Amino acid sequence: MAAVSNVSVTEIVDLRELREKDLDPLLEEEGITWRSIFNWDSGASSDLVRRFVKIQALNGFALMQGGRVIGYSYYVCEDRKALIGDLYLLREFASVDNEDLLLGAVLQALLNTPYMLRIEAQLLMMHGPFERPMPFSRYLKVHPRNFMMADIDGVAGLPGGGAIQTHLFEPWTQRRQEEAARLIAKAYDGHVDGTINDQYRSVSGAKRFLLNIVQYPGCGSFFGPASYVALNTSGELVGISLASLVSEDSGHITQICVSPEERGTGAGYEMLRRSLAALAEHGCRKTSLTVTASNQEAIRLYQRMGFRAMRRFAAYLWEGF
Ligand SMILES: CC(C)(COP(=O)(O)OP(=O)(O)OC[C@H]1O[C@@H](n2cnc3c(N)ncnc32)[C@H](O)[C@@H]1OP(=O)(O)O)[C@@H](O)C(=O)NCCC(=O)NCCS
Repeated sequence: MAAVSNVSVTEIVDLRELREKDLDPLLEEEGITWRSIFNWDSGASSDLVRRFVKIQALNGFALMQGGRVIGYSYYVCEDRKALIGDLYLLREFASVDNEDLLLGAVLQALLNTPYMLRIEAQLLMMHGPFERPMPFSRYLKVHPRNFMMADIDGVAGLPGGGAIQTHLFEPWTQRRQEEAARLIAKAYDGHVDGTINDQYRSVSGAKRFLLNIVQYPGCGSFFGPASYVALNTSGELVGISLASLVSEDSGHITQICVSPEERGTGAGYEMLRRSLAALAEHGCRKTSLTVTASNQEAIRLYQRMGFRAMRRFAAYLWEGF
């Protein structure tokens, strides 16, 4: 009698056992999803995933059925912290059970890693990200974050702000990296975003954050011409607004912050206005950003400038193991 293969058996496989092209259908579908919902071209991130899979250097797992990859998740470790970089299931297999299988495998591997202290994950497309029980929920904190978007047509013509009388606004240069790292650590001291991303809590962490957004494609490709700094009358750096390109006609604000003592004077408005105008000039039609839902100060500013919430994501943090 001929053997009958059970195609519905689902198994977890280490990403190191895959060949580069095994992930192609999944990464292609994920790319279409990101483009259609967020106007975001994930091609560069997918290429990086393929490159690491090829050299068997990507940590994570795939979910397989009948020899086909139906989902995957990967993570990167840095010191005693890990970041879950992606988790995606083919649409026809996207269920809470399958998400839990993948996420559970990733979390278990990380909890087995000596000295691991915290695990962060953001922008994962999960079912019911806030309501449902999650793997290892006893260690989990969830922070809702809004993905906001604005049509450039509506924002490129915003009037110049009063802060041009009190501050100097200059294009970003890499020379500002050290000062910008000090500003980030100060701006996020005691801020909820420092709970979600611990790189904001120290100057050395903020340096790594800046290096990541300039070098790696996770938040799009860094776009210097739409990135600005604000200086006060003593020439000190008191604000930054950093932008990236996430598709040929979409920009993204990867970071905006103002020193606590200079807030409410219009510096944030003016930097963001300049970033948006520069993105429009480059040919962008839309701009997006993400913001923690409890950060009402920032959300008010973004809404006033034409941004609207499109989708709510969860920022996950597992710690205290
Ligand atoms: C969000 C952030 C960048 C805004 O920067 P900011 O320079 O304080 O923003 P602005 O001064 O342009 O605008 C803030 C408020 O001040 C008001 N304002 C602007 N110019 C003003 C002036 N000359 N005098 C008094 N108030 C003024 C604005 O109307 C605005 O009020 P509203 O929120 O009620 O509309 C800043 O609060 C910050 O760095 N926060 C911490 C980091 C952070 O959360 N970053 C965003 C992550 S997504």
